[in-house]
Amino acid sequence: MLAAAGTSDPPGNVFLSVQRVYSPAGIFMTGNKRWDASLYDSKHSFVWKSGSEVIDLLSPQTGERILDLGCGTGHLSHQIALSGAEVTGLDLSQTMIDQARKSYPGLRFVVADGGRLPFAEVFDAVFSNAALHWMKEPEQVVTCIASALKRGGRFVAEFGGKGNVEAIHSALQSASKALGAPAQDFSATAERNRLYFPSIGEYAGLLEQHGLAVRSAVLFDRPTALEEGENGVRNWMEMFAGDFLAAIPQEKRPDLIRSVEDRLRPALFRDGTWFADYRRLRIVAIRE
Ligand SMILES: C[S@@+](CC[C@H](N)C(=O)[O-])C[C@H]1O[C@@H](n2cnc3c(N)ncnc32)[C@H](O)[C@@H]1O
Repeated sequence: MLAAAGTSDPPGNVFLSVQRVYSPAGIFMTGNKRWDASLYDSKHSFVWKSGSEVIDLLSPQTGERILDLGCGTGHLSHQIALSGAEVTGLDLSQTMIDQARKSYPGLRFVVADGGRLPFAEVFDAVFSNAALHWMKEPEQVVTCIASALKRGGRFVAEFGGKGNVEAIHSALQSASKALGAPAQDFSATAERNRLYFPSIGEYAGLLEQHGLAVRSAVLFDRPTALEEGENGVRNWMEMFAGDFLAAIPQEKRPDLIRSVEDRLRPALFRDGTWFADYRRLRIVAIRE
């Protein structure tokens, strides 16, 4: 059963298009931010709402034991539980889990690191939405997923893949430079906040090395509508790129935000709505 509980608080969609296969890599974006559960639920519900399709892929069945890895505020754990499955939601952030417990008191939620799972039991399936790119030790996480699954158990996940949010990254970089922020400061922030956005080849190889046979893998562009119209990109930066804002003196931050918006507007703003340039990796594998 359960053992440990961590307490740290690090911090993360709806059209299909191009499929791509890439070679190794991982890019950046704000991995050290503390999670604000209220902000997440009030202005970023698009993250979990897009996870419904991944639940369809999981196809949870009554009585199955399912682990929701990086469950956040628990909305998808709840949706999975509606199928009659026994769900355990796990997340490293105490504030996200507190919120999940408040919203869904009947479900089991655990604070722990995805790279150090505290379970002796095995699960019929491990599910994860929009969370694996935040986990800093992917190999450790995959080892844990494999040992948490029974033989024949399934791993169904979606998260940021190679090329995710590249336009936003590049706009932040050029806007910071235009405001006189030293290039090495931006690189240092980017390095500190590096997230894991693997290619299909890289991630499928990692899963196979750990006894997980890949049944399907798709890397696809999903321009993601952000909430609150004109404020969409600034809300997104506040939630997911706080370190980059914090690296700029307070009085220059409004200029930085405006400059990022100006750079992104031609590509990412349509009919009053901002679309983040998300590229997702959706993967299904079976424990051998
Ligand atoms: C964008 S949220 C997604 C939450 C949820 N899956 C959803 O779809 O709404 C990413 C979550 O990953 C969690 N996370 C980040 N690193 C983690 C780790 N090492 N172990 C467990 N959870 C982690 C964060 O705390 C956060 O709640």
